[in-house]
Amino acid sequence: MLAAMSLDGLRVAITGAARDTGRLLAEAFAQHRAQVFLSARDLSAAERVADAISRQGPGRAAAFRCDLAVPDSVRVFAAALAERTDHLDVLVNNGAPYLDGDDLGDVSDDEIEGAVAAGGTGTMLVTKHLLPLLRASARPDIVNMISACGEVGHRRSGAHPAFYAAKHAHAGFAQILSYRLRPAGIRVISLFPPDFVQEGTRQAGHDLTARSVVDCVLFAVGQPRDCFIREFHFEQVRQPHP
Ligand SMILES: NC(=O)c1ccc[n+]([C@@H]2O[C@H](COP(=O)([O-])OP(=O)(O)OC[C@H]3O[C@@H](n4cnc5c(N)ncnc54)[C@H](OP(=O)(O)O)[C@@H]3O)[C@@H](O)[C@H]2O)c1
Repeated sequence: MLAAMSLDGLRVAITGAARDTGRLLAEAFAQHRAQVFLSARDLSAAERVADAISRQGPGRAAAFRCDLAVPDSVRVFAAALAERTDHLDVLVNNGAPYLDGDDLGDVSDDEIEGAVAAGGTGTMLVTKHLLPLLRASARPDIVNMISACGEVGHRRSGAHPAFYAAKHAHAGFAQILSYRLRPAGIRVISLFPPDFVQEGTRQAGHDLTARSVVDCVLFAVGQPRDCFIREFHFEQVRQPHP
C-alpha cells in the first residue's frame, strides 16, 4: 500500500504564484486541504488567485506581495508571513523571471540584473528569512523549482545565459542547503525540468506538462520523513533547442 502523508492543514508558501506553474501549485496544495500563502510581484494578481482558491476550497489561500528582485520586498513578505503563522511546513521557491536568447546582447542590462537578482539573490533571501518559520514546523520541506538549465553542462534550452546563471546559483544554493539542513530535519527537494508546457497531452512523445511537474512536488512532499527525495531530473523527450 502507498504510504503518502496527508497534506491536510499543511502551511505552504509559494513565490511567483499568481500565474502558470506557481498558481497550479497553489491550487493543487489547496485541493489537498493545505493552507496556502501565495506571493507575487503584483499584489492584486495574487489576491485574485487567492480569492479564487479560497472560494473553490477545501484549502484556503492568502495573498502577499513579494518581488524577489527587491530585498526589502522579500523581508517585508517574510515579516508579514510571520505575523500570520507561527510555522511554515513547505516553502516552494518557484518565482523566477524567464529570459530567452542565444546571444548575451539579446536582452537589456536591466533584464540580466533582474533575472539574477530574483532567481539567485531573491531565492536565497526568501529562504533565509523564512527559515525560522520552517524550523518551527514538525515536517519542513523546501522545494526548489530550478530547471535543466541549472544542471552542469546543460545546453539544450534556448534560454538566455543570464537565466542559466540564475538557475546555477539556485542549484548550488539548494545543493549545499540540502546537506546542511538535513540534521535539522528539513528536506530540500529540487526539480530540474526541461522546458515544459502549461497545458498539453500527458503522453509519451509529448512535452512535459506543468501538471506532471506539480504532481512530482506533491509526491515528494507527501512522502514519509524517512524518504528524502533530493532531486528530480527529467529526460527531455521532445526535440531540444538546436
Ligand atoms: N516553464 C518551463 O519550461 C520551465 C522549465 C524549467 C524550470 N522552470 C521553472 O519553474 C518555475 C515556474 O515556471 P513557469 O513556467 O510557471 O514560469 P513562468 O511562466 O515564466 O512564470 C514565472 C513566475 O515567476 C514570477 N516572477 C518573475 N519575476 C519575479 C520576481 N522578481 N519576483 C517574484 N516573482 C517573479 C512570475 O510572476 P509575474 O507574474 O509577476 O511575472 C511568474 O509567476 C520557474 O522557476 C521556472 O524558471 C520552468
